[in-house]
Amino acid sequence: MTTSTAIAHPNIAFIKYWGNRDERLRLPANGSISMNLDGLFTRTQVAFDSHLDGDKLILNDASAPDETLQRVRTILDEVRRLSGVTHFARVESRNNFPSGVGIASSASAFAALSLAASAAAGLELSEAHLSRLARLGSGSACRSVPAGFVEWLLGTGDLDSYAVSIASPDHWKLIDCVAVISREHKITGSTEGHRLAATSPLQEPRVADAPRRLDLCRQAILARDFDALARVVELDSHLMHAVMMTSTPALLYWEPATLTVMHAVRAWRGNGLPVCYTIDAGPNVHVLCEAAISEQIAARLNTIDGVQEVLVAGPGGPAHLEA
Ligand code: DP6
Repeated sequence: MTTSTAIAHPNIAFIKYWGNRDERLRLPANGSISMNLDGLFTRTQVAFDSHLDGDKLILNDASAPDETLQRVRTILDEVRRLSGVTHFARVESRNNFPSGVGIASSASAFAALSLAASAAAGLELSEAHLSRLARLGSGSACRSVPAGFVEWLLGTGDLDSYAVSIASPDHWKLIDCVAVISREHKITGSTEGHRLAATSPLQEPRVADAPRRLDLCRQAILARDFDALARVVELDSHLMHAVMMTSTPALLYWEPATLTVMHAVRAWRGNGLPVCYTIDAGPNVHVLCEAAISEQIAARLNTIDGVQEVLVAGPGGPAHLEA
């Protein structure tokens, strides 16, 4: 029996993944770009064990629901297929950030699981292969495998749809100040949301324009051009939420305080502060700025009614094995 432990960070998408062209393989409708979030992580331990009579999953010290175990099995089955290992596995996973603050843990969780499981089975997968493996559990997880600023390539199929690093974590001291607005569990998760994307008449134009936005975002990151990044990041977030709001049934993730923060950020920018926002499938607002003003921005966010707490994270490293 061999045990391996891996650590991976969640990520925040600057250009969003929304909708799949192949649901089972999680092949996305469009490419996406994100930044790993330093300081926040999932640590996952995997052991293949001949004494087990089934795969076991412990999440934050509690046994996990069947649906989650099923997704974890997708990764374990693929690792067994690749390695020839036939034993069941015990998986123990823990986040260092409280669950229910609206920071999606599926990205860091499936990235850490893919690395820990493949190492425990004796595999040494390339970064691209590891990213493809993580993608099968959760699309955004493929972006938590490489370091820093990351692009998930659209690809033509399973073999070439994976994420690559476009800049290292120390390339740009960009900070994500997460204004936590609700700790409630979201009503419609992203897996269900991806299924609804195609019902919106706005999904097709959003997807058709994605290559242009990806270029703008990649160039803004490489040039450390905050104003250019702010323009494309807010546009992309608004486009995704427009698709969500015009799906059948419609998805509306914003709370009143979400809008309050959006207006505040726009007003600050109007007054000359380089700051912008992006919002995932929930009410929290990810407020981006450079490190020089991040304390000031976090302090301002903390004074807004309806903001429960502010988490602050810079660019994070790759998924890695614990020594
Ligand atoms: C809005 O990767 O969580 O955060 O593949 O079903 O696990 P599954 O979906 P997931 O979707 C992420 C959606 C998003 C945008 C993004 O991170 O790109």
